[in-house]
Amino acid sequence: MRLDKFVMKSTDFNKQQAKQVIESGEVRVNGEVVQEVAQQVHENNEVMFANQRLLAKPFRYLLMNKPANTICSNIDEVYPSALNLLTQDRQINGAEVENDINQRDELHIAGRLDADTTGLILITDDGRWTFNITLPTNLCPKVYRVTLSKPFKPELINTFKQGIQLQGEKALTQPAQVQIISEQQVLLTITEGKFHQVKRMFAAVGNRVIGLHREQIGQVKLDVELGQWRYLTPLEVNSF
Ligand code: URA
Repeated sequence: MRLDKFVMKSTDFNKQQAKQVIESGEVRVNGEVVQEVAQQVHENNEVMFANQRLLAKPFRYLLMNKPANTICSNIDEVYPSALNLLTQDRQINGAEVENDINQRDELHIAGRLDADTTGLILITDDGRWTFNITLPTNLCPKVYRVTLSKPFKPELINTFKQGIQLQGEKALTQPAQVQIISEQQVLLTITEGKFHQVKRMFAAVGNRVIGLHREQIGQVKLDVELGQWRYLTPLEVNSF
């Protein structure tokens, strides 16, 4: 890990503050002053600042129920980032809890949803964990509740199982499972995450998605209200 990142992870300093204390010679690695912010350090290196050994804080893992009209990038664009919701006070079991998220900019969303899609997003500062979840060959299942503009034809269940030819793609989609909930609502399980994949799958069979909500990623199920979030349990974190 870069020295500036290590200092940020072990203090409440932001990137600028970490840079400042490193470049001013206040940080020692294994007894030597290091003024190079990009120097690589490992957990077992002794990193000292203000006569104290710095220990990297553990990674953070959260889930959120993303509302519509928010985006999954770290910065606001046409819509605000869903990550803004982390730095607002929240409710747990009806009680107001003060915001306890530091260094929000260190966090990112593992696997994006469109601005108009609601539901489960996973948030972390552990890049390796994100890599595991999003690596296509890991075939991590994601469950979406899909509301359609027209009734879903039950005979298409098999087509989804065999793979759909998306416009502009060479290969068929991976086998997908469809469970019919009502005439115009299904639960769809897919193991890929191509751009606008769910919308394109239904467009390819002559239908249109008018509501999309992600309910599950791997074994992690959404269980908080729209706009709310919680930390994952160790079991959930280790399930990827
Ligand atoms: N597929 C889509 O089309 N949109 C999403 O947000 C997620 C999956």
